Amino acid sequence: MNSPDLRQQLRKQVRQQRCALSPTQQSEASQAVLAYLQSHPQLDNMQAIALYLAFDGELDLQPLIEWLWLQNKQVYVPLVDLMEMGEMHFHRYRPNSPMQSNRFGISEPVFKRNEVIDCQQLDLVLAPLVAFDSQGNRLGMGGGYYDRLLAKIDGERPLVIGLAHDCQQINEVPIQAWDKPLKQIITPSKCWSW
Ligand SMILES: Nc1ncnc2c1ncn2[C@@H]1O[C@H](COP(=O)(O)OP(=O)(O)O)[C@@H](O)[C@H]1O
Ligand SMILES: [Mg+2]
Repeated sequence: MNSPDLRQQLRKQVRQQRCALSPTQQSEASQAVLAYLQSHPQLDNMQAIALYLAFDGELDLQPLIEWLWLQNKQVYVPLVDLMEMGEMHFHRYRPNSPMQSNRFGISEPVFKRNEVIDCQQLDLVLAPLVAFDSQGNRLGMGGGYYDRLLAKIDGERPLVIGLAHDCQQINEVPIQAWDKPLKQIITPSKCWSW
């Protein structure tokens, strides 16, 4: 099987596995990852944090979002409809942000120009992923958005941490030249760093 076909097959297989997690497994996973992040040594000094609103069995960040709001952190989420030219934009997400469904049926804030942040201004990006391996290689949904974001990062900021269920770990991600590995991945049972 050639690499693009293998990548598609792995995406399908792992997405099915995470979608099959029970509501209890999902909520235990969210709490475990919340606990790791609450004790993350770098989080205290971070203000602007981008994350995602879960769909398709992704690790649910709602408990983390509520906690970040309580800590007066600035929370940002990607705006899918602004993903023109392959670039991802992050929009402020507040407890009272007006929300709408995007073309994938995912809830996202209604666009306001002055609520969009330049990615260089972010301290932390919590990146979703479909599959990862023990080397920090990442397979996404196939849009390449986080690869483009990682390619733009020059230096330490923002820190990008991948979040996933344990069942999303595979033996080896068949990587392509443009894939950027992650420096940290957090799952409910382990914090990986490279
Ligand atoms: N830095 C980049 N600049 C331009 N295009 C990129 C970059 N990184 C990835 N891409 C493109 O994005 C597409 C999807 O990438 P892929 O790695 O398959 O998706 P994902 O990372 O979401 O699994 C590829 O066609 C690739 O050429
Ligand atoms: Mg990629």
